[in-house]
Amino acid sequence: MLDDAAEAVLRANWREGTRRDGTPFAFTCPSPRRYKHQWFWDSCFHAIAWTHIDRERAKEELRTLVRAGRPDGFMPHTAFWQASPRWRRAPLYATESFRGDTGTASIQTPLLAVAWERVAEGDDAFREEGLEPLAAYARWLIRERDPDGDGLLTILLPDESGLDDSPKYDAVYGSMAHWKPGYARLVQRCRRARWSAATLARTTDEHVEDVLINVAHALSLRALHRMSGGAEWAEHAARTEAALVERCWDERRGLFFDLAGRGETRVELSTWSSLAPLALPGIPRDIRERVANEHLLNPRRYGARFGVPSVSMEEPSFRPGFNAYRTWRGAAWVNTAWLLIGGLRSLGADDEADRIARGVADAAERSGFREYYHPRTGAGHGEHGFGWSTLLLDLPAGFSPTVGVNPSRTS
Ligand code: GLC
Repeated sequence: MLDDAAEAVLRANWREGTRRDGTPFAFTCPSPRRYKHQWFWDSCFHAIAWTHIDRERAKEELRTLVRAGRPDGFMPHTAFWQASPRWRRAPLYATESFRGDTGTASIQTPLLAVAWERVAEGDDAFREEGLEPLAAYARWLIRERDPDGDGLLTILLPDESGLDDSPKYDAVYGSMAHWKPGYARLVQRCRRARWSAATLARTTDEHVEDVLINVAHALSLRALHRMSGGAEWAEHAARTEAALVERCWDERRGLFFDLAGRGETRVELSTWSSLAPLALPGIPRDIRERVANEHLLNPRRYGARFGVPSVSMEEPSFRPGFNAYRTWRGAAWVNTAWLLIGGLRSLGADDEADRIARGVADAAERSGFREYYHPRTGAGHGEHGFGWSTLLLDLPAGFSPTVGVNPSRTS
């Protein structure tokens, strides 16, 4: 039943055609009403969900993402294939200029190689096809977004991590937070600096070496290494993983924290991104076990009945209900569970992983494929027919992002 409903959502959100300049596109929009464009990490999740239904569509979705990119390797946070954003929403899109852009100048959580590897399972031609654009994208990120060369990527806008209004950004961005009017000033400042992270990291304090972004980066580098055999990717991944441990791990609290501004100040707030390194096999096992046992599975913190809350239930800023202008402040998203379940499975905690997967499925049974869910009641909030909630299809398969392919399927 849920499988059929998930397929119906993906089919209803499928968009294909040709852009005004003749470039063909085919992708899944996150939701038909509110999110009509192509979002970067949404498409990565959609492609993984499509592998359970129609692998050709999964391939087209990822090819379209690559086509939205530039020759220098950059790929945008949002691509506008069918129409430009309407004037009312235009200031919210981080474009180069105001009119005529085909995509943003900002990035989003770099999970593309993870998705590519999944879609290319057993398909060498598609794997080969990805190697060049994936390598160019990884090089762009390392060249442009690691201005201090410490192995950790930097985000300029809070929504570059996909966690737009997370309370972890409140103090860092202040009046320029994503949900405040000043956000338009932040975008304007990035435009003036021509989106140069080197310039902005040197002259301003509103930028973050973000844990989730770097987990996604390391996962993708590992996937690229497995796909290409290129030793440089394993070396880059190991560097990023080591930097996460050396610079972001808080031994006392047992969590990973972002580093913000020129002072690289730790942002000591417990959000699901503080747990995300659990998905990286290169992180020492004792650290991953602490994250799982003290936080993810702790009923006072993240161990909720319906999915994994995006903010610890113990944090004063935890707000799991609906707010039209603020997301990622406590509600449970399906992708959150997806990433962390993989980490749990790699620790052998399959029962716990299954329990979380069941909770997510229960929420979808009750409320349909909504954008996010109340972690205590399972009530659905935000958009209806939300694309990446169909990642649910991937939870029982036991896919682990830490090893690429589910070991039971290859044995
Ligand atoms: C919201 C989410 C972001 C997502 C986008 C499209 O802005 O915060 O993560 O990519 O919607 O679904």
